[in-house]
Amino acid sequence: MARKDLIDIASLHPEEIEFLLDQSKSFKKLFTHSVKRIPALEGKSVLMLFYEASTRTHSSFEVAAKRLSAEVTNFDVAHSSISKGESVRETIETLQAMRTDYIVIRHSHPGLPGMIARQTTASVINAGDGAHEHPTQALLDAFTIKEKFPDPRGKKVLIIGDILHSRVARSTSTLLQKLGIEVAYLGPGSLVPKYGPATIRRFTDYEAAMAWAPDVVYLLRVQMERQDVQFFPSLREYHRVYGITTARLAEISDLGLYVMHPGPVNRGVELCDAVMDYERSLITNQVENGISVRMAVLDWLKPGGDFPRQESYVARPKVSSTVLTP
Ligand code: NCD
Repeated sequence: MARKDLIDIASLHPEEIEFLLDQSKSFKKLFTHSVKRIPALEGKSVLMLFYEASTRTHSSFEVAAKRLSAEVTNFDVAHSSISKGESVRETIETLQAMRTDYIVIRHSHPGLPGMIARQTTASVINAGDGAHEHPTQALLDAFTIKEKFPDPRGKKVLIIGDILHSRVARSTSTLLQKLGIEVAYLGPGSLVPKYGPATIRRFTDYEAAMAWAPDVVYLLRVQMERQDVQFFPSLREYHRVYGITTARLAEISDLGLYVMHPGPVNRGVELCDAVMDYERSLITNQVENGISVRMAVLDWLKPGGDFPRQESYVARPKVSSTVLTP
């Protein structure tokens, strides 16, 4: 069965994850063989509603929707009545009247996309809600890891940085664990929450974390805009203690580890410039794979009033969507 919305990773069933990752692979094959467009969403409209800054996620969704032949509207939040005090609910009512089929939303308020999903028949995709979830980022990360490790069970991913404020850390670690991957966190004590799943190891010391022998080192951006107090002495100090410095990159290279980052990168903070040319950097693979993964998500979701809400899932859903023959 299809779903109406994609709000989080936590509620996805294993067969849904497997289906989405398989579909992403087929879409990627199709589009690397020079097919530019398929008519899967012909006649459908996709509304991009980004209340927070974004370049890669926004453009990735836009390209994905256009490759599926959807009509894309960019709702200009900065110049809309929202800046005149219109509430999100009023905006949604207006948009509902426009009969949009899909809403891709990013907002600083955790839980808002889920709330909107309950008020509209459009399919809602959470493109990041505060420090809560970022499900398509998690899917593209898992897809990128599976390209290198087709059977990723037992592999280890070390997520380094600002875990506390990161929706990527939350969604990606949840998904990787669902795939049988071991996850550990490394960062300053102030940015690595003590609560959360007991299955995730927590380190504050770089050497101790490397002794855990990860296969992938996943860097997070230091999210200055979400930090209302100072969590560490300075950015220079952060780079020295937790950043991938030139010396650490040499060690990572000797060990043959992969490096990932969701972007945007703060160069000189979480990683040194040389990482951009590192042969096992998967950062551009992540960007490229984001398009196929978002196509798979858009193609899978089905707008309308008849679909069970995400919370009411009890039975194991059967998945169905456009069947692709690569
Ligand atoms: C992330 C986000 O916005 O949550 N970036 C992204 O989606 N490409 C991570 C970040 O902003 O640090």
